[in-house]
Amino acid sequence: MKGLILAAGRGTRLRPLTHTRPKPVIRVAGRPILHYAVDNLLEAGIEEIGVVVSPETEKDIREALSGYRVRYVLQEEPQGLAHAVAVAQEFLGESPFVLYLGDNLFQKGIRRFLQAFQEGVSAVIALVRVENPRQFGVAVLEGERIVRLLEKPKEPPSDLAVAGVYVFTPEVFPVIQNLKPSARGEYEITDAIQGLIDQGKRVVGVEVEGWWKDTGRPADLLDANRLLLEELPSRLEGEVEASQLTGRVVVERGARVVGSTVIGPAFIGKGAVVEGAYIGPFTSLGPGVRVVRSEVEYSILEDHAVLEDVALRLQESILGVGAEVKSRNGLPRAHRLILGDLSQVELA
Ligand code: G1P
Repeated sequence: MKGLILAAGRGTRLRPLTHTRPKPVIRVAGRPILHYAVDNLLEAGIEEIGVVVSPETEKDIREALSGYRVRYVLQEEPQGLAHAVAVAQEFLGESPFVLYLGDNLFQKGIRRFLQAFQEGVSAVIALVRVENPRQFGVAVLEGERIVRLLEKPKEPPSDLAVAGVYVFTPEVFPVIQNLKPSARGEYEITDAIQGLIDQGKRVVGVEVEGWWKDTGRPADLLDANRLLLEELPSRLEGEVEASQLTGRVVVERGARVVGSTVIGPAFIGKGAVVEGAYIGPFTSLGPGVRVVRSEVEYSILEDHAVLEDVALRLQESILGVGAEVKSRNGLPRAHRLILGDLSQVELA
């Protein structure tokens, strides 16, 4: 069994964060989203792992995965999930494989889907009941067998969404070769699976256990961060001085917390500085972040972001790499903003 993680997407719904970096390298609970995917595959005993990247995402993805042994496969053009699988055919060879969308998070890992994959099954699809099936692939089940699959239907026939893990045999390759582009101009994996079903192949659906998150939008990132922090054990490796830490808090090596109050669950990354500050629940600070004389909760501050002397508490916020929010002294009393394309600011 091999693993194939897709990490070539543009992540348009997460702009501006994804203007400069691909979605799977954004950190939730201190680690790039992609790490959770690789760990879940390894934990399920899959050691031969390929990662599909695009010319735009390759550099960042390689950097984020530098500690792992994986193979990279380049998808030159973003032509859909099924196209990404076709591009990886040489790597996958004759082996069955797990297809794992690099922006998906599964609390309980993926063993369950592999267990359902036995003799005579052509594909296993992870399914999850959702309130908004229009945003996903949607399955119709007869028993455990999937009889119909539709990509983002206007009128969903069920509330069973396709979550981002699939197990396939190489039988899927000839089906992909014969696919036609969908209305949005992509080769859809959903159409490939429907193709298998139409050939009378056995495709089974298995419901996800525990929580599942597709980190497509900013609110999903914050929620994923919350869910992961809920499970993170305390770890104090950095320096803590004249501060009060309550609940589960991680302070990584080289980080300094001085004269501050931290209420967990919270994550303070390597080399971060927290001074005269309040860090509230469900907050993750990336490496090198500075929070000085300011308050923040339910937020993600990515690497080297700065929050300094800001009077009002920051909440439900995501600051990208190197983003700075500071107070302005002197006159005129005004906001001064330098925001990249599609940035979002809500002022109280
Ligand atoms: C993709 C799939 C969709 C699936 C979803 C899960 O959509 O096309 O069938 O439900 O991932 O995350 P995307 O999020 O790429 O639009």
